Amino acid sequence: MDSSKIKRYTVTAALPYTNGPVHIGHLAGVYIPADIYARFLRSNKRDVKFVCGSDENGVPITLKAKKEGVSPQVVVDKYHKIIGDSFRDFGISFDIYHRTSSQMHHQTAADFFSTLYEKGVFTEEVTEQYYDEKAQSFLADRYIVGTCPKCGNENAYGDQCESCGSSLNATDLINPKSTLSGEPPVLKKTKNWFLPLDKYEDQLRTYIDGHREWKPNVFGQCQSWLNAGLQPRAMTRDLDWGIKVPVKDAEGKVLYVWFDAPIGYISATKELFEYSRLDVWNPKADEYYINQNELEKGSWEDYWKSDETKLVHFIGKDNIVFHCIIFPAMLMAHGGYTLADNVPANEFLNLEGQKISTSKNWAVWLNEYLVEFKDKQDVLRYVLTATAPETKDNDFTWKDFQARNNNELVAILGNFVNRVVVLTHKYFDGKVPMCMKLTPEDQQVIDELQAYPAKVSASIENYRFREALSEVMNVARLGNKYLADTEPWKVIKRDEDRVRTILNISLQIAATLEILIEPFMPFTADKLMKMLNYGGHQWESAGRMDLLHRGHQLNEPVLLFEKIEDEVVQAQIDKLNATKTANEAAVAAEVTPAKPNIDFEAFSAVDIRVATIVAAEKVEKTKKLLKLTLDTGIDQRTVVSGIAEFFKPEEIIGQQVSLVVNLAPREIKGIVSQGMILMSENADGKLTFVAPLQQHNNGSVVR
Ligand code: 2FM
Ligand code: ZN
Repeated sequence: MDSSKIKRYTVTAALPYTNGPVHIGHLAGVYIPADIYARFLRSNKRDVKFVCGSDENGVPITLKAKKEGVSPQVVVDKYHKIIGDSFRDFGISFDIYHRTSSQMHHQTAADFFSTLYEKGVFTEEVTEQYYDEKAQSFLADRYIVGTCPKCGNENAYGDQCESCGSSLNATDLINPKSTLSGEPPVLKKTKNWFLPLDKYEDQLRTYIDGHREWKPNVFGQCQSWLNAGLQPRAMTRDLDWGIKVPVKDAEGKVLYVWFDAPIGYISATKELFEYSRLDVWNPKADEYYINQNELEKGSWEDYWKSDETKLVHFIGKDNIVFHCIIFPAMLMAHGGYTLADNVPANEFLNLEGQKISTSKNWAVWLNEYLVEFKDKQDVLRYVLTATAPETKDNDFTWKDFQARNNNELVAILGNFVNRVVVLTHKYFDGKVPMCMKLTPEDQQVIDELQAYPAKVSASIENYRFREALSEVMNVARLGNKYLADTEPWKVIKRDEDRVRTILNISLQIAATLEILIEPFMPFTADKLMKMLNYGGHQWESAGRMDLLHRGHQLNEPVLLFEKIEDEVVQAQIDKLNATKTANEAAVAAEVTPAKPNIDFEAFSAVDIRVATIVAAEKVEKTKKLLKLTLDTGIDQRTVVSGIAEFFKPEEIIGQQVSLVVNLAPREIKGIVSQGMILMSENADGKLTFVAPLQQHNNGSVVR
C-alpha cells in the first residue's frame, strides 16, 4: 500500500478459542508481534485500533464443554475471563478485547450473512454430511477426525488439517471417525448454505498476486490453493451452539465458526466506538477490556471501509486459508470493505523439542507464568520475540529462557542502564551533567546511535520483529562498549569534565533505549522512564541528544532485570517432565477397541503351539528384524520377527513363545518366514512375549 495514503491502521490478532488458556505458542506466533506492531504505531503517533476478542462459537467450545461436563456458556465465561485477564496483565495493549458471544457480534455476523443471502451469493444445497447415530449429531469440523487426503496426517479435522494447513470438507477425510463416540459415521442428508469460492477465484488471484511482498510461507500457500482450484464451502452447520442462521427454514442451524470469527474483528471495532459514545460508566468496559481514555472520533467504518486504512491480520500459520482466501471472499461478496494489506502469519513454536499441545498439557500457560514469574512479563516477551518462529518452526527451552535473561537482559541491557544511572548519582548527585567538548570517538557513537531508530522502524514495518529486537539490543551493546572504552570510573580522578560528556551521552543512549524497547518490553520501558524521570515513548525523538537536559534530576537506580537461578528453571523442567510421565502413563493405559466378532470355526482354524527359540540373529541392514530358529516340537523352522528393537538376540535364546504354526510362509528380506510369534504390545509400542507361565513341551497346543 502506498504509504503516503495511509491515514489509519486496523490491527487484528486472531481471536483465541475460549477452550483453554493461551500459551507461549499463541504469544510468540500472534499476540506479541501484533502488540509490538501496535505499540510501535502508537509511539509514532499513528492512528491505530488494535482489536481482538474471544472466539466463543464452534465445535472447539462444545467439545470442551462435553469434556468438562458443563454447558458451553460456562466454558466460554471461564476462559474469556482467564484469557482476557492474562492478556491485560501481560501488557497486550488491545484497544478492545471483545467476545463473539456478545449481542453486538451476533447481530453483526447475522447481518453480514443476511446481506450475502439477499444478494443471492450463497447456493443452498442438500448434501450428504457425516452423522453420528449414537450421539444423534451431525459431525461438523472437530467432531470428526480422519486422515488428511493431502498429507496423510491421521488427526485432520473435518474442516481443516492443521498439519499441512489445507482446508477440507469432512467428506474428504480418509477413515473418518466421530470424536463424540469414536464410531465411523454414516451419511445423512442436510441443507446448508455454501459460499461459492470458485466464483471469486479471479478476484482473489488478483488480490493475492498484488501482494508479492507477503511472507513467502503465506504467499506460497495462497498460490497453491488458487492453483489447485477453489471449491464452494458450507458456511452453515447443523449444531446447537453458535449464531443462528438468520433465514427461513434454518432451524437447528448455526453459522460456521470460521464465517463468524473474522467478522469478530469488525464487531469488536464497532463495540469500541459504540461504547465510547456513552459518556457514562459502562459495565462492558470490564467485560470487554476496553482500553480507552478518551471518546473516539469518527466511526468504526473508517477502520474497515476506507482505502486510507491499512488492515493487518496477525495470525498463526494454521489460519492462513481463512484470512487470505475465505474472509477476503466474504468481504468481496459483501462489498464496501477494505482487504488486508498484509497477513504476517508465523510458523509454530515447539516446547523443549515437542509440538505444543493443549490436550497433552504440553505448554507453558500464560496465566500460570504470570503467577510463577511475577513482574517478569518482559522476560517472556523478550525471549519469545528473540526466538519467534517467523520463518520456520522454532523451539522454546527453559535453559534458553534463563540464558537469554541472564546473558542478554541482565548482562547487556540492564547492566548498561544501571551503570549509567549509578555513576550519574555517584559523581553528579543524579543530575544530568552537561555535554562538553565532543571527541571524534563521541561523535562516532552518536552517529551510530542515530542510525538505529530508522533501522528498527524498517524491520518492524516489514514484520521482522526478531531483527528489530536484535538491533535494539545493539544499542545497549553500543552503550556498554562506549563505557568500557571511555572508562569514566578511571577518568573521574583526572578529568571531571570529560566524565560529564561521557555520562551525558550515555544517558541520552539510555533515553533512546527507553523509546526503542517500549514496543517490545513495555514494563521495562516504564521502569526506565521512571528512573530517568522523563516522558518517553515518542519514537520520533529516538536518537536525539537532548532527550535529557543538563541538570535534569534522575530518580534512584533500580535493577531492570534480575538473574534467574538454576532452581527456578529446573522447577519448570520438572513440571514438564511430570507432564510427560503422566502422558506416557495415559497412553500406556489406552486400550484399542475390540475387532468385530468372528465365529468359533474361524478361531479354531488358527494353530498356535508352544515353541522355543534355539537361535537368533539380526537380519542384516534392518533395524527391526530378527531371524529366529524355533523348535516347534513338530520341526525346527525359521521365523522372521520384528522385535529387534526390544530384544538382543543372545538374550532370548531358550525363551518359550506361542507360535502360529499354520500361517502361510512369507518371504521377508529374502528369508522365508514360517509362522508368527505372538507378542503383546503396549499402547506405547513396547513388546513382550506371550508365553506359557511354566515350561511346557514344545508343540503343546495353545487354545
Ligand atoms: O485458530 C484459532 O484459534 C481461531 N479461534 C482463530 C480465529 S481468528 C479469527 F478469524 F477470528
Ligand atoms: Zn494435511
